[in-house]
Amino acid sequence: MAELSVKHLLGIKYLKEADIQLIFETADHFKEVINRSIKKVPSLRDITIANVFFENSTRTKLSFELAEKRLSADVINFSAGQSSVKKGETLIDTVNNILSMKVDMVVMRHPSPGAGIFLSKHVNASIVNAGDGAHEHPTQALLDSFSIREKLGDVAGKNVVIVGDILHSRVALSNIFALKLQGANVKVCGPRTLLPKYVESLGVKVETDLRKALNWCDVANMLRIQHERLDISYFPTTREYTQQFGVNKALLDSLDKEIVIMHPGPINRGVEITSDVADSKQSIILNQVENGVAIRMAVIYLLASKIK
Ligand code: CP
Repeated sequence: MAELSVKHLLGIKYLKEADIQLIFETADHFKEVINRSIKKVPSLRDITIANVFFENSTRTKLSFELAEKRLSADVINFSAGQSSVKKGETLIDTVNNILSMKVDMVVMRHPSPGAGIFLSKHVNASIVNAGDGAHEHPTQALLDSFSIREKLGDVAGKNVVIVGDILHSRVALSNIFALKLQGANVKVCGPRTLLPKYVESLGVKVETDLRKALNWCDVANMLRIQHERLDISYFPTTREYTQQFGVNKALLDSLDKEIVIMHPGPINRGVEITSDVADSKQSIILNQVENGVAIRMAVIYLLASKIK
């Protein structure tokens, strides 16, 4: 049986193109499973997974939990806000206490970049990064590429623009790695202050004119301004940001071609995209969420097969 080249999913940076294709082929199978009347398979009845979230989440947390339950794994959930982390317990102590309850895999979201990498070196379990600060969000990038492949047939050769706060975005970095690995052409677009100076060294081009970027692309992945990570002012006002980098229906309809609109969520409606764009037939935002469950089932299933 084909297997992943890694025993943890810490970032797209550590994957090979063959890993991504294996995850997609496995997710194709699980997508068929979750559309059956009985949406569950017994594959991971002997596996226990802890979802350890030190940062807020709606989509990722629910999607992982559903994926684990669809695979028949035993699941425990941990939120830092209601835990002994508040009493000063360290990350390693917290996770080792969870692992002593015979847990095989830890899915972790943490505000510190590299938290998953650190943990993988200190605890004896398979670690899945569910978002580490402004670093990586690998399952988001996998579900994004899977959704492009589903909509357009392939990712290779497609023009994808990522718009918005690239500087603070783990979604942007993981998407850049995933899209480049699969042979897509990638541009980033946003205010100069929110584009990292090194970004072109990742093999992407910079475009600060949104209309030009949209006329070039097949897919626009619209990112949210991450107010919780902005320590200083990176643009004058939200209104001016929206005027220059927001997509509304009039702009979408005036383009040379019909493009696909994506967004990882949560959406700031009326800021990066208007509601009529988010809910338009060109938007695949809810398809992304649906595909997230199949992708996470695939990732967990493939990593669990390396534990057994
Ligand atoms: N896309 C994403 O990570 O959303 P959540 O923060 O709700 O998990």
